[in-house]
Amino acid sequence: MTPDQIILALDVHDPKEALSWVDRFQGRIGTFKIGLQLFSANGPSLVREMRKKNVAIFLDLKLHDIPNTVAKSIEALCQLDLRFLTIHCSGGRAMMEAAAQAALPFPQTTLLGVTVLTHLSDDDVRELGYDHSSSGQVLHFARLAQSSGVQALVCSPLEVPLLRREFPPEAMKLVTPGVRPLGSATDDQSRIATPQQSLAEGSTHVVIGRPILNAPDPDAVLDSLLS
Ligand code: C5P
Repeated sequence: MTPDQIILALDVHDPKEALSWVDRFQGRIGTFKIGLQLFSANGPSLVREMRKKNVAIFLDLKLHDIPNTVAKSIEALCQLDLRFLTIHCSGGRAMMEAAAQAALPFPQTTLLGVTVLTHLSDDDVRELGYDHSSSGQVLHFARLAQSSGVQALVCSPLEVPLLRREFPPEAMKLVTPGVRPLGSATDDQSRIATPQQSLAEGSTHVVIGRPILNAPDPDAVLDSLLS
């Protein structure tokens, strides 16, 4: 796989550690993902610092609020010159339409609709009150996202074949967390595949965190992905 297909989830607390991962893997990983943990601890200044290193940033805040609040937040966050920014599809049509409209002046930023979080099983999805299995719910959210103007999604690797039957790559980017190289621990992810399988089935990018960050030899894990 290519560096551009890999997104490293920087799920750490310490900004120095986050920056050292960026320095270590710059050029070998296309995009670095700042999630709620790192952003809550360090805010926009860390994003600016990383952008000064000229790496692409995925800000994974999974926005979910009333349409006006989401739109205004997107206007503010897009000033940080992001490659990807997440919103929850479960926020509904009006929220996604407002989000897509707010992101229009920032063509360098792709809004990603989060479908069903990858740790949720079918039972969890039904317990939340949805009528579908998790994959049925993902398809439902994907159709809603597309008709609301959101042209890229986060989904589990297990839903990629189902989504690709309906959405060709030029119509919908698919970013998949929940990937585990052979031999890695599954941690709390439940709908998983290897990164190679996920890309072969039609993912545009894979998000990998703990299998690299917690590995005894992170460079070896990355090298095996890039070979
Ligand atoms: O460590 P791991 O490889 O499981 O990291 C996956 C990353 O992808 C985490 O940062 C997690 O928040 C994120 N994510 C996810 N499932 C989603 C959306 C994002 O696991 N549906």
